[in-house]
Amino acid sequence: MTTAPDGTPEGIHETVRARYAAAITEVTADGGSGCCGRPAQETFAASKYSAEYRDGIDPRLVQASFGCGNPVLVGDLKPGERVLDLGSGGGLDVLISARRVGRAGRAYGLDMTDEMLETARANAAEAEITNVEFRKGHIEKIPLPNASVDVVISNCVINLSPDKPAVFAEIMRVLAPGGRLGVTDIVCDDDVTAQQRTLHGDWASCAAGALARGEYLAGLRSAGFVDVDVRYTDDFPHGMHAAIIRATVPDVPDTPDVP
Ligand SMILES: C[S@@+](CC[C@H](N)C(=O)[O-])C[C@H]1O[C@@H](n2cnc3c(N)ncnc32)[C@H](O)[C@@H]1O
Repeated sequence: MTTAPDGTPEGIHETVRARYAAAITEVTADGGSGCCGRPAQETFAASKYSAEYRDGIDPRLVQASFGCGNPVLVGDLKPGERVLDLGSGGGLDVLISARRVGRAGRAYGLDMTDEMLETARANAAEAEITNVEFRKGHIEKIPLPNASVDVVISNCVINLSPDKPAVFAEIMRVLAPGGRLGVTDIVCDDDVTAQQRTLHGDWASCAAGALARGEYLAGLRSAGFVDVDVRYTDDFPHGMHAAIIRATVPDVPDTPDVP
C-alpha cells in the first residue's frame, strides 16, 4: 500500500512513482488496469478510445491505460506535427499520436517511472512504430529545448504534480508559438476545498492534488496561455470530475513594418 506523501515535492514524486511502478507491473502480469491506478474490468480509460483510435494498437495496451480521457482526440493532431505526452505511462497515447502525425512528425513521451518507460519502449518496438522517443524526467522540468513541439498532450497526470505552476511554465516553454495544449485530467468544483480533496482520495489516486476548475484556468492564463477552456466530461462523487483542458500559445506578434 502507498504511504501518504510527506508533503514535500520529492515525497509526492516518490509516492506517485511507487504507486505507478507497482500498477504497471501488475498490469503487465495480468493485462488490465483502471483510472488512476485503481483496478477495473473494461476500464474507464479504455472506454474513451473509439475504434478509430484503437486501429492498429494492441488491445492490451488500450486496457493498460491509467488515464481519464483521450488526449489525442483533444489534441487534434495533424500530419507532420511534433507532440509531447506528459506522464506517458505505458505509451498508448504516444503510439496513437505517432500514427496520427505520421513519418514526417514525431511523438515524445516523458515519464519519471522506469517501469513505465520500459513498458512503453517495448510496446513501441512490438508495434514497429519508430517516430517515437521516450525520455525519463519530471514534467516540472521537461528535458526538451524551447519551442520544440507543436502540441502537448497529457492523460490524467498534471493533477499528480506537486508544482503545477512549474508544469504550466514548462509547457509554455517547450511549445512553439501558436502551439496547443490538449489534456485530460481530474478537476474539482471551485467550492471543494483543498482539505476536502485530501479526504476524497490520496495524491496518487488523482484526488488530493486535483486543481479546481478556476485554479486550472487561472494557472494556465498566468503562464501566458490564451483561449483556455476547462470542460467536464464525467462526474464523480464529491464534486470531482474528469475534464478536457485546452489552451493555446499566442502566435508571435506581427513585426511592425519599419518606416
Ligand atoms: C495516472 S498515470 C497515467 C499514465 C498515462 N498517461 C495513461 O494515460 O495511461 C500517471 C503517469 O504519470 C507519471 N508521472 C506522475 N507524476 C509525474 C511527474 N511529476 N513527472 C513525470 N511523470 C510523472 C507516472 O509515472 C505515471 O506513468
